[in-house]
Amino acid sequence: METTNEHLTFGVIGATGKTGRRVADLLDAGGHTVRRLARGTVPRFDWEQPDGWAQALRGVDRLYITYVPDLAAPGAGTAITRLMEVARDTGVRRAVLLSGRGEEGARRCEEIVLGSGIPATIVSAGWFIQNFTEGALSGALESGVLAIAAAQVREPFVDVDDIAAVVTTVLTDDGHEGRRYELTGPESLTFGEVATLLTELTGRDIRYVPMGFEEFHAAVAEEAGPETATLLTELCREVFDGRNETPADGVQQVLGREPRGVRDVLAGALTAGRLA
Ligand SMILES: NC(=O)c1ccc[n+]([C@@H]2O[C@H](COP(=O)([O-])OP(=O)(O)OC[C@H]3O[C@@H](n4cnc5c(N)ncnc54)[C@H](OP(=O)(O)O)[C@@H]3O)[C@@H](O)[C@H]2O)c1
Repeated sequence: METTNEHLTFGVIGATGKTGRRVADLLDAGGHTVRRLARGTVPRFDWEQPDGWAQALRGVDRLYITYVPDLAAPGAGTAITRLMEVARDTGVRRAVLLSGRGEEGARRCEEIVLGSGIPATIVSAGWFIQNFTEGALSGALESGVLAIAAAQVREPFVDVDDIAAVVTTVLTDDGHEGRRYELTGPESLTFGEVATLLTELTGRDIRYVPMGFEEFHAAVAEEAGPETATLLTELCREVFDGRNETPADGVQQVLGREPRGVRDVLAGALTAGRLA
């Protein structure tokens, strides 16, 4: 029986990614034993190589799961089902899954994890604020063009540091098993309003270009291939229909404080040199 976190090993899948790196760092800072897992780690974890999963998870007690490319992608359900089987067999006793807010495909994966027999918690996040500074949309800082198929919909963008704090709390504290938390920031902004804010903070002209779905698909396909283009276009079509406009209170529920907002996080990134 577990009486303390001291002798536990925390596995982090996607430990070089935006949330995984922060979760692993917070666990490290808390004095916990962390196994960072990604394609370049030892042991290696590769979603494309299920035969290596047991070796990667052996000895892990509590597991944070981030799936790429996305829980709504074809094959995600199969991969998550298999991962949970391996996790059960290797002795994982708690799991936390990062999910995408408002995605039907992701909901199916959440059910797989919650029904796996391993005590589990779902952290369902809105769009990351850090997509603008260290993610898919950070190119806008250089090009001056923030182009995405989001029309004038409002999104309650969430701080990845808040997500990491929630995940770390849920992994280390008891009482979150079987729960599903929706994490967003405190306010909803359009992408146009984010572009205005980026302009104000950086002093460079950054404008929002709302793309049509076909135009967006063609642009992504050129950069990242047709599969990724179809996945991202369908995600935009799904989550930018207004369903996610209202902020949720998962950060408050778990951390007992307000989440950070877009201006605050972007201003912090500017100070830290990540809005260069
Ligand atoms: N971005 C958002 O706004 C948002 C919002 C809600 C939910 N999410 C969810 O967050 C998850 C991660 O998204 P992200 O954009 O934040 O990712 P990210 O920061 O780009 O990180 C991706 C991570 O996955 C690893 N990875 C890539 N390919 C892999 C493979 N074949 N096998 C194992 N690991 C692999 C990467 O490590 P290596 O390259 O080092 O292997 C990296 O650690 C997705 O499930 C997404 O749906 C994202």
